[in-house]
Amino acid sequence: MTVSHTSLSRLGDAARAFLERRRGLYIDGAWEDLEARIEVLDPSTGEVFATVPRAGAAEIDRAVRAARVAFDDGPWRSMSPADRGKLVWRLGDLVEQHADELAELEALDNGKPVTDARWGDVAFCHELLRYMAGWSTKITGETIPLSSPSAFHAYTLREPVGVCGQIVPWNFSLMMAIWKVAPALAAGCTIILKPAEQTPLTVLRLAELVEQAGFPKGVFNVVTGLGEEAGAALAAHPLVDKVAFTGSTEVGKKILRAAEGNLKKVSLELGGKSPMIVLDDADLERTIPAVASGIFHNMGQTCTAGTRLYVHAKVADAILKGLAEHAGALKIGPGLDPDTQIGPLVSQEQFDKVMGHIAAGQAQGARLLCGGGRRGERGYFVEPTILTHTTPDMTVVREEIFGPVLVVATFDDHGLDEVIRQANDSIYGLAASVYTRDVSRAHLIAARLKAGTVGVNTHHVVDPALPFGGFKQSGWGREMGWSAIELYTELKSVGVALT
Ligand code: NAI
Ligand code: MG
Repeated sequence: MTVSHTSLSRLGDAARAFLERRRGLYIDGAWEDLEARIEVLDPSTGEVFATVPRAGAAEIDRAVRAARVAFDDGPWRSMSPADRGKLVWRLGDLVEQHADELAELEALDNGKPVTDARWGDVAFCHELLRYMAGWSTKITGETIPLSSPSAFHAYTLREPVGVCGQIVPWNFSLMMAIWKVAPALAAGCTIILKPAEQTPLTVLRLAELVEQAGFPKGVFNVVTGLGEEAGAALAAHPLVDKVAFTGSTEVGKKILRAAEGNLKKVSLELGGKSPMIVLDDADLERTIPAVASGIFHNMGQTCTAGTRLYVHAKVADAILKGLAEHAGALKIGPGLDPDTQIGPLVSQEQFDKVMGHIAAGQAQGARLLCGGGRRGERGYFVEPTILTHTTPDMTVVREEIFGPVLVVATFDDHGLDEVIRQANDSIYGLAASVYTRDVSRAHLIAARLKAGTVGVNTHHVVDPALPFGGFKQSGWGREMGWSAIELYTELKSVGVALT
């Protein structure tokens, strides 16, 4: 494909060379071409700059069978934990060696600022691979004393769960993939990965790096395609032992129904509507940038985005003035511009959804403090937006917006219990944060918030070692840390009668 487009001139040679190659499916250690294609758009212009295969049930079936054989009969199963760990570590090294290229591809494909892609997404990927590589040699069972009258030696074994279908979204394409791939490989599973149709590129590049790292064939497969075609076929496939999904709560429920046939294991990381609570004693200099990043990072296209701000009336004016100034100063531009802080949203669909929410919020009585508009004449740019005077029944307060839109309500000295009640009044429970100098209040409120992750004086708290996942309809299971290894293993009990 000819690379003529303006953003593309910012790409380095490696990313450019990747785009010049025709991208296929990666199945059983080989690249397969496919006539049917999906167009890949640059969200800063809306122009098509690449295509990837549009696979369906037949390709998914081939990939699942390859992963099945690789799990049941291949060298992967008998490889020592140390050698498996070394391969995962080597993949981490390769991701780091190609970090600039991967960050550029992610920035072009998703629209996110390339600086965030490099030092947020991609840096997290290689560190998570290394963290999980370390678990390979530490996946152990226990010896369990039994109370039987005869003598027993009983113990548990922790074994890989098997063939894993992994379906990931477009907001952090490579990172969401690695969140699932790293623990699955460390545990000894095999994988069929389906990236989002909007952002398939970095995951295809990852497949090349997996090949280069030297994983046995069939251990890791990538099948690009649409959700309702390739994704649905993967979730329903009877030879898949586990499906791991990140995306909308609506599709999460579909995954669950598709998994019903063979009762495959399911882990889900779904939507959010995370609250941020600012108390009257908050350190304003710290709180303003923390809250701004809580909502505006990745243009608000983050499952943990702090979209609801509850601020004490005493500090509300200062906080809102600071936030509006902060939002107004953020540099909006194409993801590949190294100075960009706010890129476009990923697609026309997301742009329409977010602009619709901003209009509905105002129609329902919320007031626009800043932003609210489109930026530029092409691409999917939405200004960082703050809506104040919101009430609990407004759709902007209830529904996931998935854009750079903060909705604000104030409370007074008597209202803290009510604020905690409102913060918890959501079908979601992914993240939350509280801003205060008072250690006791911070811990008391952290204990009362119904969320999988709570930040104190910060919002996004994510680390390879820290369990991550949701209460309520935000999901099932915890990724990261040992919890992720549990998601990709089965526990077996063995009892040996000694007498
Ligand atoms: P989505 O949930 O439809 O897509 C996520 C992934 O699921 C993609 O790989 C897609 O191809 C796949 N998929 C879609 N339908 C499927 C099906 N029937 N069976 C199997 N796989 C399927 O999310 P979408 O449509 O891209 O975005 C809609 C909304 O979802 C966003 O506005 C946002 O509110 C939410 N969302 C939440 C994310 C999160 O991180 N929790 C990520 C992306 C979207
Ligand atoms: Mg969808």
